[in-house]
Amino acid sequence: MPALRAYRASILRFSDDRSAVFEEDGLLVIGPDAHGQQVVRAVGPYASLAANFPGVAVEHLPGSIIAPGFIDLHIHFPQTDVIGSPAAGLLPWLENYTFPHESRFADEAHAQEQAIFFLDELLRHGVTSALAFATSHPSSVDALMAEAQRRGLRMMAGKVLQDRHCPDGVRDETGQSLADTEALIRRWHNTDRLGYAITPRFAPSCSEAQLRGAGELAAQYPDVWVQSHVAENLEEVEWARKLFPRSRSYLAIYDDFGLMRERAIYAHCIHFDDDDRAMMRSTGAAAAVSPTSNLFLGSGFFDFEAADRVGFKYGLASDVGGGTSFSPFHTMLAAYYVGREGRGKSGVSLSPQHLWWQHTAGAAQALGLDGVIGNLQPGCEADFIVLDPKATPLLARKTAQATTLDELLFSLIVLGDDRVIARAHIAGCAS
Ligand code: GUN
Ligand code: FE
Repeated sequence: MPALRAYRASILRFSDDRSAVFEEDGLLVIGPDAHGQQVVRAVGPYASLAANFPGVAVEHLPGSIIAPGFIDLHIHFPQTDVIGSPAAGLLPWLENYTFPHESRFADEAHAQEQAIFFLDELLRHGVTSALAFATSHPSSVDALMAEAQRRGLRMMAGKVLQDRHCPDGVRDETGQSLADTEALIRRWHNTDRLGYAITPRFAPSCSEAQLRGAGELAAQYPDVWVQSHVAENLEEVEWARKLFPRSRSYLAIYDDFGLMRERAIYAHCIHFDDDDRAMMRSTGAAAAVSPTSNLFLGSGFFDFEAADRVGFKYGLASDVGGGTSFSPFHTMLAAYYVGREGRGKSGVSLSPQHLWWQHTAGAAQALGLDGVIGNLQPGCEADFIVLDPKATPLLARKTAQATTLDELLFSLIVLGDDRVIARAHIAGCAS
């Protein structure tokens, strides 16, 4: 079995009921599937599995933890340099920082340099897949996709649609924007591991004609993703309601234009009522919960309890540059804080296993990619990270004292950052 490779370490993965499975001394065997894609071929305890793979080279990583690569459900590739820009709230932040930064992506050399830095940064933080906004310039999608393709990443992205309420330099033209979107779908969707996402920025920046066109493309290309923002900030909600008075709610605008379906990912979903939540559930759309962004921009708190009560899909996202960090550890910790703000005396105490699931297998499920990425069950693509639980003196102390899996994962969530990520493997290869 020369095409197989194996890794011996502690291994974290998830079962179908969302609980974490932790193999203290595990073996992960990877190799090509029928299409030549590197996938997990076997995983389990080293003691019982090793004998099934005689002659397979095993890399022993004592003291390390192998885990699925993290998935970022919502991030802006052109906003790396926007991180940490203070503003009174979302709308002035967009106007004063975000649009000026995004206008620079008309320059292809700038977009290419940013794409390299952006993907380096994701991988350094253990994020092996993401659903990303580019800018309104089609060439910004080309820059990101070409660089992701070169690295063999499973990456989804789209050209921002915004034909009103934004300045010259980032505003697009309705007919051209839809033609560009279709051309980009044909160029990039299902090219190697890449996927396209139809990307209306948010309802206030799109004319009715642009939203209608986006919805038509979403129907014509059902396995393409859709991504947008909704119900993030109270001022924004009021604005959207004024612009689309015939829609029942802000979220309903997207439904009215055919943009609510499986593989539609809406960032934030904070200022919702139960009818909105029921619409998320019945359409199969999913929320990209972006807690560091929501705390930084003062947008509000995602209601985890209500989401679970109604039962719609969600996962975690950085929302860089509204978000303050590329680190999934920082995002999981912020999600924990936000859960604490929920209903009841001290809110909900989200378990570390559930937080981690939301950033891996749960995010994959939200994308319609369960069993493909975000987990290390047999058949999953071999995107995984190697974690060093002793990456800092304090982490070494804390993780050495952990007596349960929850204690170990919580130590990493609370104290971890990019120093914990020893390396990331993309389709089996160390990057
Ligand atoms: N709403 C519309 N555009 C944006 C954006 O770039 N970031 C965030 N956080 N919200 C938005
Ligand atoms: Fe965003």
